Amino acid sequence: MHFCTKDVFPELEEVKKEHFASMSSIVSHDPALLDKKAIRILEIGVGTGVNFAHYPEGSHLVVVDPNPHFKSYFEENRKSFPHLQVEDFVVTTGDRMEAVKDESVDVVVVTLVLCSLPSETIQATLKEIQRVLVPGGKFYFMEHIVEFDLKKYWWRRKLQHVFTHWIPVWPFIFDGCCLDRDTLPVIQQAGFSSVHAQKYYAPIPSMFYEPERSNMKGIATK
Ligand SMILES: C[S@@+](CC[C@H](N)C(=O)[O-])C[C@H]1O[C@@H](n2cnc3c(N)ncnc32)[C@H](O)[C@@H]1O
Repeated sequence: MHFCTKDVFPELEEVKKEHFASMSSIVSHDPALLDKKAIRILEIGVGTGVNFAHYPEGSHLVVVDPNPHFKSYFEENRKSFPHLQVEDFVVTTGDRMEAVKDESVDVVVVTLVLCSLPSETIQATLKEIQRVLVPGGKFYFMEHIVEFDLKKYWWRRKLQHVFTHWIPVWPFIFDGCCLDRDTLPVIQQAGFSSVHAQKYYAPIPSMFYEPERSNMKGIATK
């Protein structure tokens, strides 16, 4: 995963920059952070920490990942982002976040994670996100999803099916990643007060990632 995420695609970083921009206007519910004009962000499935560059100055981070081997890459990477304060790295899954208190984070971030969760835990993970968010808190998500324009890109839909089920190279290489998940309706039906989302094609200049080009991003409010 470190090998795959160390290459930064400038076009994709622009999409992320725009997506996360509104975070800088969020006001914390924690009086201590409010004084410092900071917010608390929980990132689930943080991996090596590829979103650090997009978090507002002074953000406090709580991060969750079930794979403890990411910790050393994460620690190395965070040295380049002294504007962030990491409060905790919790080794657990998104559906078992007992270590994170109720209504304790202003923002939850998930990028390229719902594709890898065991499918039966996606709803439980979304419930946990709602539990830990403060009232009115925001859930930022960016995920690759099943191809949505079958007329034009039927061949991508086929590739996604083949590489996930017939010759499951994607789950094998990318730690359980499924190419053919339709996770936007699941978020829309999870009980958030609003969900603003859009589907788009990720600007990744690499043929290798062609099966992952169909994406969605959005912000849900508790
Ligand atoms: C494809 S990587 C994405 C990493 C990073 N978020 C990114 O945008 O590049 C998927 C991440 O989800 C984590 N993950 C897998 N199963 C998980 C679960 N049940 N709960 C939370 N994170 C999980 C993996 O360990 C990995 O760090």
